[in-house]
Amino acid sequence: MSSPYLVELRDVDKTFYTRHFFSKNEETGRRPIYRKKTVHAVDRVSFGIRSGEIFGLLGRNGAGKTTTVKMISGLVKPCSGEVFVDDLPVEKKRLQVLRRIGVVLEGTRTCIWPLTPLENLAYFGNLRDVKGKVLRERSHRLLDFIGLTDKKDIQVRRLSRGQKQKLAICIALITDPPVLLLDEPTTGLDVQSSRAIKDKVIEMTREQGKCVLVTTHDMGTAQELCDRIGIIKDGALVACKPTEELLGVFADQRFEFRLDRAPNLDTIQALPGVMGVESINSDGGPGFILRTSADEAERSNALYNTLGQLQSQGLLLRTVTQRQQNLEGVFLQLTESQADAPKGRN
Ligand SMILES: Nc1ncnc2c1ncn2[C@@H]1O[C@H](COP(=O)(O)OP(=O)(O)OP(=O)(O)O)[C@@H](O)[C@H]1O
Ligand SMILES: [Mg+2]
Repeated sequence: MSSPYLVELRDVDKTFYTRHFFSKNEETGRRPIYRKKTVHAVDRVSFGIRSGEIFGLLGRNGAGKTTTVKMISGLVKPCSGEVFVDDLPVEKKRLQVLRRIGVVLEGTRTCIWPLTPLENLAYFGNLRDVKGKVLRERSHRLLDFIGLTDKKDIQVRRLSRGQKQKLAICIALITDPPVLLLDEPTTGLDVQSSRAIKDKVIEMTREQGKCVLVTTHDMGTAQELCDRIGIIKDGALVACKPTEELLGVFADQRFEFRLDRAPNLDTIQALPGVMGVESINSDGGPGFILRTSADEAERSNALYNTLGQLQSQGLLLRTVTQRQQNLEGVFLQLTESQADAPKGRN
């Protein structure tokens, strides 16, 4: 039976083997000694992306996002697990897979610097069988949409970082592929260009049914663009849900209390079902944020206990509101714990 996904990763794992500088050889004092280390970059990750869907992959620096993108595009070979694009196993059908995907990798080395933008598009188009009139028309349309028409005949090395990034996006789109892998596509772009790219991605996904994977550090972009979000931490997928659902799960758990005076938070922190308290003192007067367990019964218990405790402290309760969670808050909550724990398995 064929998969409902255009891109699918099943239990994909990647460990890199590296050499770390350790010390100089004591005897000769010259040749450095290296120690072998392993970096578990991607840890048994599974997810799928449907046609017409924008999937966002979020994670801190070094979480494994680029490695995941590279494995989907066949640039890095997984140690175990399987990657499929349009039901084709990437490892065995690399050329066929490459025809179906457009990739923008982080950095500006995707394009050929001594050539002009137009020549780059001709080169990459020809490599992938886009030729003649179609190539010419598409190249001009893409350069026009992205705002590079006035630079079309200038060597890429003379373009700014943002302009090179824009060209990389045009190169990814030159074959009009059904699958787009965009690794930090809007990094370094001005507000207008970033807006234009987001709009284009949404339009292509909705109207042409493209399947898009985006990695980004910009939570606003992710929240606005993505239908579904995967959060990757130390190589493992710690959450993978539709964006609304992901926000909803966490929205339930934060309540803002406003009072006439600051409460004794230590006693509230110790109540059953309370996960955390954080004092606030802004325009709305003194108060605190209460974080509760996601479990409905425990949350109810925590709220009742908190109210009882506030009353016994003789405080006047002005307002209680449920805090709207944004993606940044969710992301921090999911990725912050043990954030600085050493990574790797050695
Ligand atoms: N070729 C490589 N050799 C050795 N280690 C690597 C290699 N590529 C990536 N890594 C390691 O794998 C881990 C994941 O790297 P990756 O580039 O996938 O992270 P990322 O999530 O894209 O981070 P960023 O947000 O900084 O771009 C890092 O610890 C990195 O040092
Ligand atoms: Mg990266």
